[in-house]
Amino acid sequence: MRPRAKSKVVAAALISAVAGGAAVYLNLGNRGLPAYAQALPTHQPPPANHAGVVVQLCDGVTTTEVKGLKPGEQMTHSQALEVSRELMAEWQRKHPDRHWVMAQSKTPATTATAAPSGAGPSGSQGTAGPGAGAVQPRSQQGDTYASFHDRDYMVWQAETDAFVEQGNKIFHSATLLGGTIGVSCDMCHPDASNTHPETYPKYQAQLQRVALLRDMIDWCIENPVKGKTLDPNDPKLRALEAYILAQRKGVPLAYGKH
Ligand code: HEC
Repeated sequence: MRPRAKSKVVAAALISAVAGGAAVYLNLGNRGLPAYAQALPTHQPPPANHAGVVVQLCDGVTTTEVKGLKPGEQMTHSQALEVSRELMAEWQRKHPDRHWVMAQSKTPATTATAAPSGAGPSGSQGTAGPGAGAVQPRSQQGDTYASFHDRDYMVWQAETDAFVEQGNKIFHSATLLGGTIGVSCDMCHPDASNTHPETYPKYQAQLQRVALLRDMIDWCIENPVKGKTLDPNDPKLRALEAYILAQRKGVPLAYGKH
């Protein structure tokens, strides 16, 4: 009986210590917490000077006012492209040393490739892709997956491709992004170029914290797209993340890189 009584005392002490710790933690509010634990800042541009709509770049600095555009009004596709070009031209004037890549340098992962027959999980490379046709041992992780067949891998690859394809559509559509002015990500990032997903997590000055890719996507949805940020579990945000990452297949991970 004695040891049990003793363990009860220990458990009670632990519970009260944890509860006390939690209370202190909660009392801190946002202050005193490291930046990554605080709510994300919102991305709102300065007010308009000419009764138009101010659009701000993902840098959180460069802005342009679209005169004659009323809040809530959409631009035409060509107008939105023009505004995006104008913003990018201004950004490039300010950063002549920064080379903006208008296309992915590596061949992006094609979205319609099913795993060729005989392609199991080939090490860290995943399934599809050139060279994946070589016969691979069936079980890479002990025997856990040994009972799966080519068909399973093809189904998985097809599902993954479909997910990436959803992200592709959203990235290219102001409407699906929930944008209010007709601007979509591809207008400045064709094929998701210059999004550098492989460099996350990294410190982003705009957000004043170490950011994940999804934080940066949300930031850019607010401006320049002028939509509402998405919950981290929102299927659209997940699909966008999948698409952006898929475009950098084969590029080495380099978290924190600027
Ligand atoms: C009008 C042009 C424009 C549009 C539209 C735009 N971006 Fe950007 N984006 C930029 C610029 C310019 C930068 C570089 C900012 C910097 O270096 O501070 C950038 C940076 C980024 C980065 C960080 C890249 C890095 O190197 O870490 C990500 C991620 C990104 N944008 C995603 C998006 C997404 C997702 C959308 C759509 C929701 C979008 N952007 C829409 C111009 C744009």
